[in-house]
Amino acid sequence: MTDRPDSPHSASTRGARGSRAGRPDPADLRQLADSPVSLRRIARLFAPHRATLGVVVALIVLSSAVGLAQPFLVRHVIDDALPRQDVRLLLLLVAAMIGVAVATAVIGVVQTWLSTAVGQRVMHRLRSDLFAHLQQQSLGFFTRTRGGEVQSRLVNDIGSMQGVVTQTATSIAANLTVVVGTAVAMVALSWRLALLSLVVLPPAVLLTRQVARMRHAVTGERQRRLADLHVQIEEGLSVSGVLLTKTLGASPRLTTRFEETSADLVGLEIRSRLAGRWRMATMNIVFAAVPAAIYLAAGFPATSGGMTIGTLVAFVALQGNLFRPLMGLLNVGVDITASLALFSRIFEYADLPVEIAESPDPVRLPRRAAAGEVRFEGVGFAYDADRPVLDGIDLHVPAGSTLALVGETGSGKSTLASLVPRLHDATSGRVTIDGVDVRDLAGTDLADLVGVVTQDTYLLHASVRDNLRHARPGSTDAEIEQACRDARIHDLVSSLPDGYDTVVGSRGHRFSGGEQQRLAIARTLLRDPAVLILDEATSALDNATERSILATLDEVTRSRTTIIIAHRLSTVRDADQIAVLHRGRVVELGTHEELLLRGGRYADLVRGGLGSEPAAA
Ligand SMILES: Nc1ncnc2c1ncn2[C@@H]1O[C@H](COP(=O)(O)OP(=O)(O)O)[C@@H](O)[C@H]1O
Ligand SMILES: [Mg+2]
Repeated sequence: MTDRPDSPHSASTRGARGSRAGRPDPADLRQLADSPVSLRRIARLFAPHRATLGVVVALIVLSSAVGLAQPFLVRHVIDDALPRQDVRLLLLLVAAMIGVAVATAVIGVVQTWLSTAVGQRVMHRLRSDLFAHLQQQSLGFFTRTRGGEVQSRLVNDIGSMQGVVTQTATSIAANLTVVVGTAVAMVALSWRLALLSLVVLPPAVLLTRQVARMRHAVTGERQRRLADLHVQIEEGLSVSGVLLTKTLGASPRLTTRFEETSADLVGLEIRSRLAGRWRMATMNIVFAAVPAAIYLAAGFPATSGGMTIGTLVAFVALQGNLFRPLMGLLNVGVDITASLALFSRIFEYADLPVEIAESPDPVRLPRRAAAGEVRFEGVGFAYDADRPVLDGIDLHVPAGSTLALVGETGSGKSTLASLVPRLHDATSGRVTIDGVDVRDLAGTDLADLVGVVTQDTYLLHASVRDNLRHARPGSTDAEIEQACRDARIHDLVSSLPDGYDTVVGSRGHRFSGGEQQRLAIARTLLRDPAVLILDEATSALDNATERSILATLDEVTRSRTTIIIAHRLSTVRDADQIAVLHRGRVVELGTHEELLLRGGRYADLVRGGLGSEPAAA
């Protein structure tokens, strides 16, 4: 849920910019309590830009100082130039007034440029580091983390970094210098009026803040209800939502609920509009009342102290400058909390230990030198410590041979296969390729050695050619086409108007599930791995296509070690070895004929259609 209800973009730009007159976000406070951030660490991030930041601060002070000259110029105009009708002096003063305005504007532009540049550089560094770091995280990390959260940190939280530098930090510096500078100038003009302002301003500022807070609360509530409404629309009117609603017969209930939420919104919307109006009204009253009080005071001999009209006008102008910076400073706490929480969230991710790290002293095994012999030696694995998924697995897959894994859903087939490319690391025992523990292998070599095709294919939103080349940069068009021929997808691709330049994905050509599967197989064949893992890779294909791919795969698998997981008899029958998994253990091992003769679990599975996994569409 959004917690910056002030702006319509709040959901996507949470972070540094504390909402005006808001209170610290409870989520931010919780974040900071859970993982406090070290200020030194933040300072280190900005350290390379120390010089630029120094210039930024200097510019802020300079522009505030220059800006303060304005009221004094006004006083000079009113008290000296106008009464004396001194045109020369008037021209000079007016030129100076314009000059001051131009100078402050230019300084402001330069300052924004510099602080944005620093903000962007720091953001770039963090973003790239975090991306690289997260890429190293195990598959387990991504399945554990709520969908979208990882992306959100990269995009939103780091995106808000920009705000920390350009807004929180510079606005604190700017507000502070303006407040101090203005206060000094006010005392210099008239200490009596300055004293008076001290009495009038704080209540005015606090009143405005109070009204702003009330508005904030109302808009927050409105935003939450609005989000409820969106969820209900999503649930009630999306295809899958409608399907669910209709089959559950929940339509009348949903309609009533929608009506209630919508009715709630009417009241909230009105209150929120009114609150906004009140806020404006209070500001207007304050902006009129404070100068009025000062004029009044200037009329009494006791408080006027014999000041000139020019001084009075200059003073009123000055105190008008004070209001907004004061309001801003009152929110410093909120802004700082939001910024620190932002850093805390980012650092939390940056500090995640890499579970599947490359060995500090990796063994090199280039693809060319590898035979591809795979061994599982006493392998055990558990996702959660108390529930073993694999236990005591011993399997030997000679180089160039095929091992088929069969068993019921959940028996651990995918998990076992995932240990070879190190998507997970075995909890006990070890997995070796050509006698080398996969954990000792250099990461790039392991990636070259092992190719995986699973049932869930993920294709990039890019052309067919680029999708394949992503798997092996530098491959020629001829190689790409050959891989596609082997995966029985070449004819289809070349029949498309754009051929191999056809873009894959929702905004391009929608390949069917089976076609995507074949593209994924082609992609892996292009890599020419020594060990090929096919986890339900052909399940999305119809029988005829599967048979035709298998015929080719038969050729390509002959030259490499293959671990195949499938639920179709035709797919596993010809494997050199078939391992039957049951509750994480190998309960039978042998060839198709041997296992059939034995009349055990495999024979049962064959009779029941090899495993209970339903054929995907
Ligand atoms: N990421 C995961 N976290 C926790 N448990 C998991 C995870 N993936 C699979 N499991 C569990 O591990 C067991 C084996 O799953 P899996 O290897 O996918 O079986 P199969 O491929 O034979 O259907 C199942 O009980 C499954 O629920
Ligand atoms: Mg599986």
